[in-house]
Amino acid sequence: MSLRLYRTHPIIFAYGIIVGILTLYYFRTLICTTYSLLSLTFNWPRGAPDFLISPNADRDAFDLSFANYSRTQDSAGPLYRDLVPPVLHHIALGSHKPQGKWIDARNACLELHPGWEAMLWTDGNAGDFVRERFPELLHMWERYGYTIQRIDALRYMVLYEYGGVVLDMDLKCTRSLGPLRRFSFVAPAAHPTGFSIGFMMASKRNEFVGKLVRSLKMYNRRWFGLPYPTVMFSTGCHYASTIHALQPNRSELKILAGPLDNFKLHSLNGPVSTPIFNHLGSSSWHSYDASLIVSLSRSAKWWIPLFVLGAAAAVFFMVRRLKIKGMLRRYQSYRSILHGEKTSDTDLEGRIA
Ligand SMILES: *[C@@H]1O[C@H](CO)[C@@H](O)[C@H](O)[C@H]1NC(C)=O
Repeated sequence: MSLRLYRTHPIIFAYGIIVGILTLYYFRTLICTTYSLLSLTFNWPRGAPDFLISPNADRDAFDLSFANYSRTQDSAGPLYRDLVPPVLHHIALGSHKPQGKWIDARNACLELHPGWEAMLWTDGNAGDFVRERFPELLHMWERYGYTIQRIDALRYMVLYEYGGVVLDMDLKCTRSLGPLRRFSFVAPAAHPTGFSIGFMMASKRNEFVGKLVRSLKMYNRRWFGLPYPTVMFSTGCHYASTIHALQPNRSELKILAGPLDNFKLHSLNGPVSTPIFNHLGSSSWHSYDASLIVSLSRSAKWWIPLFVLGAAAAVFFMVRRLKIKGMLRRYQSYRSILHGEKTSDTDLEGRIA
C-alpha cells in the first residue's frame, strides 16, 4: 500500500517519511529509556555469574550465610583491602521522619559499626548538600512529585560523594557489614530481577554510582501520572537495575544473593530476617498502594477518553485490514448464485478475485 502511495503521490510519501523520522528523533530519549526499562527482564541475567557474589573458592570465596564471619567484623579482613569507606548514611525526608522503631533500627546499625561516620540526611541538610555538590540537579530534585523520589536520588548522590553504606530507615542490622567492604559496589538481589536500593555499599566516587546520578535527568518522567511506575522507573529499584544492566562489564558491580538452592536468602521483600538484617517492613510502601488507587481514580478523567479513542482507532484499522469491501463483494456474488442468476464458475472466481 505504501508502495502504491509512493508511485501515485511521491510528495506526500516523502513528507510522511520526513515526519516519521522527525517524530522518532524528537522522542529518541523516550524510546531509548522505555526500551531499556521494559527489556530489563531479559537483559538483567546477562553476565550474572560474574556479578553475583560467589561462595566458590576460585571466585570470591565469600560465605553468603555470613556464619563464618564474626558478628562484629567491621572491615574486609586480613586478606582484602577495604574499598568501601566506613560511613553509614540514613535518609529521612518529608513525612518519612524517623519514628520510634526506625530510630531503634538505625541505632542497632550504628552500634555494630563503632567508629564509623554516621550521616543522617534530613530536610534540614539535604537541600544544601544537593545545591552545593549537584547544582545542575537541584531544580529537578526539588520538583520531584514524590518524596520517595527525592530520597532515592539523594541515596545515589551521597553514596557517590562520600562512599560508604546507604541504609533504609527500616533495616535493623544484626551484624556488621565489614566482610562486604572488599567489593567496590554491593546491593542485594531483588525478585524477580534487579536489585534493591534500600541497602547499597560503594567506594567513594564510584563510577557506576556516578552513572546512577548522571542518568537521573534522562529517566525523569511521570508515567501515566501513576506514582508506582513513576517512582520505580525514574529513581527506584527498576531504574537503578536498568542502569546496571546497561553497563558493558558488570563484574565489579556485585549483587548479594543466596546460594542457588536458597537464592532469596538476602532478599529484602516484605518484613523478613536475612543473615544481616531484620527488615521491619516499610510503611511507606504500604501507603504507596493506597495512593496508587487514589491517583488511578483521579486520572480516570483523562485516561478513559484516551482509552476509548485508542480502541476506536484500533477497530478502524482492523476493519480496513479485513477488507470489508471485498467480503461484501464475495457475499453479493454468492447471493446471485442462490437467486439463480446465470453465473459460471469462472465468472464467480473472477468476481471474488
Ligand atoms: C571485566 O572487568 C574485570 C575486572 O574489572 C576483568 O577482569 C574482566 O576481564 C572484564 N571482562 C570483560 C569481558 O572485559
